[in-house]
Amino acid sequence: MGIIMLKFLFIVVTLPLLPACEKAPENQQEISPSVSASTQTPPQSKRWYTSEQLAKGYQLFQANCAACHQPDASGTKEWNKPMADGKYPPPPLNGTAHTWHHSMRVLRRVVNKGGVKLGGWMPAFENQLNNQEIDAVLAWVQSHWSDEIYQVWLSRN
Ligand code: HEC
Repeated sequence: MGIIMLKFLFIVVTLPLLPACEKAPENQQEISPSVSASTQTPPQSKRWYTSEQLAKGYQLFQANCAACHQPDASGTKEWNKPMADGKYPPPPLNGTAHTWHHSMRVLRRVVNKGGVKLGGWMPAFENQLNNQEIDAVLAWVQSHWSDEIYQVWLSRN
């Protein structure tokens, strides 16, 4: 196994351990595919979820998440500027911020446990949504990611 392969493995193994929503997201290095501000659902390459999950995820997102993250998952425009209380506003989940930097495991944990333990204020959903429901919500969120972003996310997970 060559050095490059080892390096790749290192990245794949360590990335999912990063905590969700670091306190200073603006300092995070953006590994860019060019990020478009569009909120339209982009054309879909082959994804891990079914259309049933998407439909369910849409309902659950509107009921549980839209109040903060906006009905189209576009969140807050100035998501990396702290508010008056020093906390960060709900970020876009649609691929324009850094949600796609997180592995499925981390994304599930954020929704299950919320952000309070990490210094944020997103509520925990472990008592409201079961694992299948959380996966469905995340499917709907990911359906807003461009193929380019989805492929980068996939290749890291
Ligand atoms: C009361 C407002 C609120 C609600 C409701 C809410 N969130 Fe959040 N969410 C936030 C905030 C604020 C953050 C940033 C971290 C923090 O402060 O806890 C966040 C962060 C996230 C992140 C991490 C984003 C990133 O780029 O790292 C994900 C994923 C997420 N929310 C998904 C959801 C989903 C899915 C739901 C519904 C099941 C939901 N949120 C409901 C406020 C909310």
